[in-house]
Parts: sequence; C-alpha cells; structure tokens
Amino acid sequence: MDTKRHIDDWEISSRLFDEETGEIGADIPPAPPAEEPQDFKHIGARTPRIDGRKIVTGSAPYTQDIKLRGMLIGKILRSPHAKAEIVSVDLSGAKSLKGIKAVLQLAEGKVDFAGQQVAAVAAVDENTAEEALRLIRVEYKPLPFVVQEGRAMADDAPQVYDDRPNVQPYRDYKRGDVEAGFKQADVVLERTYKTSVEIHHPAETHSSIAKWEGDRLTVWDSTQAVHSVRNALASALQMPFSRVKVIKQYMGGGFGSKLALSNQTVVAAKLARISGHPVKIILSRKDNSLCVGNRPSTVQKMKGGVKKDGTITALTLVNHTSGGLRRGDSCSIPFMEVYRCENCTVDDITVYMNTGASRPTRAPGHTQGTFGYDGFMDELAAAIDMDPLEFRRKNYTENNLGGTGIPYSSKGLNQCYDLGAEAIGWERRNRRPGEGSGKIRRGLGMATQIWGGAGVPGTLADLMIYPDGSVEIKCGTQDIGCGTRTHMAVVAAEALGLDPRDITVKLGDSDYPYAPISGGSLTTPSVAPAVRDAALKAAEALKRIAAQKLEVPAESLVLADGKVFDPDNQEKTIAYSELFQGQERPRRETVFHGERKGLPPGYAYNSFGAHFVEVEVDTETGRIRVLKVVAAHEVGRIINRQTAESQVVGGVTQGISATLFEQRIIDGTIGSLVNPNLRDYKIATSLDVPEIIPIFVDMVDPRINILGTKGLGEPPRIPISAAIGNAVYNAIGVPIREIPMTPDRVLSAWNQKEVG
Ligand code: MOS
Repeated sequence: MDTKRHIDDWEISSRLFDEETGEIGADIPPAPPAEEPQDFKHIGARTPRIDGRKIVTGSAPYTQDIKLRGMLIGKILRSPHAKAEIVSVDLSGAKSLKGIKAVLQLAEGKVDFAGQQVAAVAAVDENTAEEALRLIRVEYKPLPFVVQEGRAMADDAPQVYDDRPNVQPYRDYKRGDVEAGFKQADVVLERTYKTSVEIHHPAETHSSIAKWEGDRLTVWDSTQAVHSVRNALASALQMPFSRVKVIKQYMGGGFGSKLALSNQTVVAAKLARISGHPVKIILSRKDNSLCVGNRPSTVQKMKGGVKKDGTITALTLVNHTSGGLRRGDSCSIPFMEVYRCENCTVDDITVYMNTGASRPTRAPGHTQGTFGYDGFMDELAAAIDMDPLEFRRKNYTENNLGGTGIPYSSKGLNQCYDLGAEAIGWERRNRRPGEGSGKIRRGLGMATQIWGGAGVPGTLADLMIYPDGSVEIKCGTQDIGCGTRTHMAVVAAEALGLDPRDITVKLGDSDYPYAPISGGSLTTPSVAPAVRDAALKAAEALKRIAAQKLEVPAESLVLADGKVFDPDNQEKTIAYSELFQGQERPRRETVFHGERKGLPPGYAYNSFGAHFVEVEVDTETGRIRVLKVVAAHEVGRIINRQTAESQVVGGVTQGISATLFEQRIIDGTIGSLVNPNLRDYKIATSLDVPEIIPIFVDMVDPRINILGTKGLGEPPRIPISAAIGNAVYNAIGVPIREIPMTPDRVLSAWNQKEVG
C-alpha cells in the first residue's frame, strides 16, 4: 500500500493534469490574492468569438487546409493483426512506383495491435501513395493475442507484454478502518458498474505537415500542445529543441487524443527529410478509430455502508480498467474525494490487451468513476429511503479526501445544488424510484462533479504596445476550439480600456512564450492570469507616460476607449496613438511580460458542479430520451460567459453520446475493430440533444490566481452519465449499471424487474 505516493500524485493531478510531464512549477512564487469582484466591462460578459466569422465561413486555416509548394502526401500502412511476428517486409514494389519520393519501414520484429504502423510512403498525390501501400509486401506470422478485458485477466490468457503479467496494480489508497465502518452501518450494499471503451473522434482527424529548411524543422500539427510536442518531436529526432517549431492555429477538437506527440507527426518529419519535400499526413477516420487513443473501460466493484440518517460509514472500490497497450484510467479520485467518509479504500488495477493504446479522454477516470460512484450513491440513498439530493447534502464536506484532508480554496457546490434543483424543478421527481405508471416513464436524476483545473504556474504572456498605440498579446498556448483567442483579447482589453476586437492575439506557435498543454482544463486558469498580469503592467506604464505628458499624477488617470484621461478634467486626455509619437521608446516600456504565479500551499484547488437531468424511458422499446439537462458549475470567475456556455453544451452533448450510444466493438476471434467509422460507431446527433441550461455560480476563488478563475474544459463532461443513469433509475425503478445504456440493456433490466 503506497498511500504517500498516491497523495503526491493526487496533489499534482489536482493542480496540473498530466502526471507524466510532471510540470508543477514548485519554484514559482505564489499568486497574490485574487482581485475582488468588480465592475468589469468585458470579463464575465458575453463576447462573441473574435475569430468566429473566419471559422464559420471556412477561411480559418486548419492543418488539413494548409498547402505548401512541392508538398507530398504521406500514407501509413498498418498491421491487420492483433499480434504477429513480422517475417519479412518487401518495399521494392513501392519504391519503384513512379511518383513515390520516400518509403520508410516503421516496425520490425513484431506488431502488438491491429492498426500499428508498419511502413509509410510519401508520394506526389494521394492515389499514388495509396497504390504504393498496396505494393508493400509484409509477411506476418500471427501470434496468440487477447482483446477482451475478461479474457485478458484469465490465468491462461496470452501475455501482452513479455516482461509482466496482463493484470497490474496501478493505484491504491486507504484511510480509516473500513471493516469498523461497515459494522456501524445500517445498510451495506455491493454493486458493480461498468463503462465501455470510447473511441476518440474529433471532427478534425489527426494531421501533420513537416517542412525542413536545412537542419531546421517546422511542423504544422493538429495538437493540443505546441510547446511539449516541439520538445518531444525534437527528442524523437535527436535534435536540439531550438531547431524545431510547432504551429497550431485552428483545431477541430482534441479531447485528449492530441495532448502528446503523435506517431504521424514523427513519420511526416522523417518522410520529409528523406524526400527533401514538405510532407502532409492526414489520418483517415478508420486510422483515427484504430490508433489515436481511446477512453479505457472500467469494471467498478463498490461496497458502501450507510446509517439510516444518511451518514456514509465506509466505502471500498476495486476497479479493473483496460487501456489496451497502455495502462487504464484510475477512476478512484472522485470516489475517495467527493462525499464525507472517514473509512475508504480504493484499488485501481490495469489490464493490458492487444488493442491500441489509450490516451487521455476528456476528464480521464473522473468520467467513468463518477458514473460508478454517483449511481451507487442513488442506490444507497434509496436503500434508506432518502432523497438523493438530501443524501448528498448530508455528506457535504469543505475539506478534501472525503473531509479528512486540507480545506478547498473555494467550493461552490452547495450553490450548484440549489440553483440546479430549482431550475429543473427537483420536486417533480418520483419520490420512490419507478413509482410512475404507463408505457413511457419519466424520471429526474442528478450527480456531482469534481475536477482539478487550477492551471499551471509559470505560464507566460507578452503584451506589446506598438508606436501607433495598437496592442498585441502573444502566448504559446493554443486554441483547440474553445475560444482561447477571445478570452485572451477580453482580458487584455479589460485592463487597457479597449474593445476585445482591438487586440491582436498571437498564439499556437512554439516560438511564443511558454504555456502548458491545452488539456486538463488548464488553459484559461493558466493563460488568463498571465495575460492579466502583462496587461496590468502595460496599463500602469501607459498611465506613467501619460502622467508626464499631461502633468497629472498617474493615480488620477483612467484608461478607456483607447485614451488616457483625467476624469476630473476633460482637457487632460491623450490617445494611446499619441503617447509614443515623436520618440523612440525603449523596449522595456513597450513590451510587458506577464506570468501566472504559483498556488499558495495548504489548500486543495478544485472545480465543482452538479447536473440535473430529466429523461423519458420507453419501457417497450428500451429507448431513453434525454428531455432536459441543467448543468450548474462552479469554476471560479467566468471570463467569457458565451464560450463558457459553449463549453458546457459541448461537454453535455459528448456525455449524452457516450452514455447512450458509444462503444468500441472488437471481434475477439480475429482481434480487429468492428466499427472503425462513424456509421457503425454511433454518436449522438442533433436529434438526441435536448435543451441544455448552463448555470454558473461565478464566484472568485481567493487564492488560485489573480483572476480567481478555474478551468471548465472537463467539468461538464464528468457528471452527465451518472445524472442520466439516476434519472433512468428514478423513471423505471431499476438502475442501469453499464454504459452505453443501449435499448437491450434497458429492456433486460426492466424485464428482470417485472419478473421480480
Ligand atoms: Mo484533455 S483529456 O484535458 O485534453
């Protein structure tokens, strides 16, 4: 039992998402207290995207749109076998084809999943590249494989990795005495919840373009992380970081599948070096289904004890999770964290299989774990005949680790409960699960969300004022579709008395100042405070310069509408454009460096939320219709209400899709994917998406950063499956403990209930 190590991981991941990169910025001084709520004009208002018109009219350049002179098309040949020895590879046919400029072997020895890259070509056009792939002869000797979780755990299962068994401990944790806790309980329940593998399907498939100029490499990459992909790519090619540049201007979604360096990026760079031409690789939808990652499955065995008054006395969780060739997701954090409980143990156990490696998927682990534990909470509440919301309020805590740890810096979950319950009309629910009648049953359910998302200390932004008074803000972050450009403009405009559209925003380039991955709900709480810091410094400088010119003390001056003026004396006004006229200003007065400072120790930094859902279940067809979703979130201060609402609508939509439809299906006998396309892999369509009502508590966290803001990327994805599940339970009186909640699963649960 390695409790100490677990807490360290949790503290890191509660602040910064990626345990693997280990970026924590411990040496950065803590942030000064957050500014109190004030009369902001732009921050917190609804600002349309400054690049919205470009995006919807198709003129925004996505990686796939970029064409370079002399550019070749790269294609990758993939293994059809789940596991095989590569006996021989004959590239000669491809090499002799006219129009082929580079051929590369990518695998030797053996392959470990169907979809693994084996060889690649670069050609003058797509058809030639495809024909070349057909001319590559690979002789395989198939080997025993395993692609199903249950099978992979059997003693006689083929071993995925030579050096370790398929079943591996991943994370465990313990506090208190669970046996003593169960003895105090009036009711003890044991339940198992399951979640399927979800495949990553961003609208824009993975793509990269590589171009060499001498020993310098520029890559246009569909990535969530220009800085860390620059570093990882340079390392992979054994070259200095300083000779690699990564650009990402517009992006059609990543959701975690584009957080780290992708294989096709390295292949494009190698093909470009061999051929002497720029090379573009766009993965097909099938490639995307096979090899860009997925959300690991889980089988969550839980045991919980409660007293009749609603006190939770003990909780245990054993989670078996499979991420294929990579470890699965720990889904234990919400379980051990959200509700007051002194006695708790968790065990995450990873199960390896011969399937494509998992990658982080919007709120890794928390999404699956919340479906499990928060469904289980409704079963515990029903067992003592208590309202599920009252049960959650009864077990509320202001300290982390179920009330046994340090205080949360801020927690607006109670407000989410109040606002959400009112907006959905919580009193309309069935008092007992399933007490309605008729063929179509209605029900209401809710669930709770926790996430980290404090942002990354050390994030930088540079603000430049040009001699004509125009303003540019530069940060090496990326806009992965969430509206980062707009929030940067909003924050800069606020401090400088400008309109967001006046600000030129530069991002998505690894040459710009450091910003972290756009994942883990890190972007806004990392970037916005850095921009604010730079903009406040710039505002002070403008006042200082104007004070000399106007002969008014700087403290009396105000910035608005592109001017510095004394509100008490209309004569004393000067436009930014005039401030710098006729002089060569030293650089230190025109470039302002902003930094996102550190997190004061001693507090847990988390976001909170609660979703409330109304559903209708057809007890003859087993079909679930989600009628309404109220999504109440506390993520500190809201920077741009419009894009924040979009973020919530997107997360809820994606969650409905996973809850009702999404599931990777692999044929256990041949080891390959049955549904590698969007016809057979079902996702929600607009007809499945109901009215979604986002609500924000909009409070300021006093310590987290100068703006008091937390991340919102993951939170709206986290509680939706559990809230839908609980609404279905409320409607039909029997819980569905597995997602996706397909009609057959609903009917079989319903029929078992009817049989009694
Ligand atoms: Mo994500 S899984 O925060 O890109």
